[in-house]
Amino acid sequence: MTGDSRTGELKTGASRTTDLRSVVTGVGGYLPPDIVTNDQLARVIDTSDAWIFERTGIRSRHKAAPDQATSDLATEAARRALAAAGRSASDVDLIIVATTTSDLTFPATAAIVQRKLGAPICAAFDVQAVCSGFVYALSVADGFVARGMARCALVIGAEIMTRLMDWSDRGTCVLFGDGAGAVVLEPLAGAGTTDDRGILGFSLRCEGGKQDLLYVDGGPTTTGTVGKLRMQGKEVFRHAVTNISEAVVAAAAAARVDLPSIDWFIPHQANQRILDGVARKLGIAESRVISTVADHANTSAASIPLALSQGVSDGRIKPGHLLLLEAMGGGLTWGAVVLRL
Ligand code: ACO
Repeated sequence: MTGDSRTGELKTGASRTTDLRSVVTGVGGYLPPDIVTNDQLARVIDTSDAWIFERTGIRSRHKAAPDQATSDLATEAARRALAAAGRSASDVDLIIVATTTSDLTFPATAAIVQRKLGAPICAAFDVQAVCSGFVYALSVADGFVARGMARCALVIGAEIMTRLMDWSDRGTCVLFGDGAGAVVLEPLAGAGTTDDRGILGFSLRCEGGKQDLLYVDGGPTTTGTVGKLRMQGKEVFRHAVTNISEAVVAAAAAARVDLPSIDWFIPHQANQRILDGVARKLGIAESRVISTVADHANTSAASIPLALSQGVSDGRIKPGHLLLLEAMGGGLTWGAVVLRL
């Protein structure tokens, strides 16, 4: 994953015949060590491994320790991504954390990560688009990196979703888990073709009118509490495949790539049935889908970078591969990113 993208950018960055691309040069993931299986949940709530697995594909999830905050998970994932990129905290000049479970109402979790990493004074802020957060954050980061405004950006998805659960609502509390994933983005001059490494295209969507389908019923200016996650599962399911598929087609068109040329499909890990439905609708073979939902459950903004991290570390995803990332979540928000690693 290590590549001297800076040199490439410095050599050709000023040329009008090349495009600056935001290239993923390092990937890292962190999962808290405590694993909670479906059977363990079935001892404390009225559910079963069979019910959860049949409807979602989930077998277990990781749970953060009581003394861990989202920034702790994010910082560890960021350290691993920087190491994979051959960079250090002192190189970082932009930190974007996608999270819906911030440490505090403010400062942004990204600011806390900057302190914990020991990164220099730089731009750092959060992106709040729930499960679509990583897709949104990557697209935002592309606006900095591909304009030459950042040379070593950390884009992190980090969540402690288990703290937003109503443990008396068995329809939601079995679905979510905790974790963090991160990528390092660096500028590299490309030829302006689909063979370039880097982010090639994206699509972002929000339909605020569908808020009631998936939301948290608290906040500093309404209830004055953190609140708990509420979801109309069947309705969310109904919108997921259609919405995601439309966004994927739009992102592929923006990137000017055909879906058959995609090497790896890395979806948000909400539910195996949604993953299968989207892949089927788009004609993507099961063998090209990275699925971690069985072991991670739904880690919201963390799920895509965690799945990417798993695919890279087990050797399936290699530099040069064309990747399709997509997500849908509260908002409703959804979107997709096409990039070449
Ligand atoms: N264990 C056992 N029984 C349960 C459980 C549980 N954990 N949860 C609900 N039930 C029961 C219900 O009480 C109901 O019982 P009843 O028929 O006696 O009333 C029965 O199971 C069916 O309940 P439904 O809610 O209709 O179950 P459904 O088949 O819709 O499955 C699920 C629920 C798994 C949540 C499904 O709707 C789903 O996957 N939706 C997608 C939601 C999702 O993935 N959200 C993630 C966030 S959005 C995103 O990331 C894309």
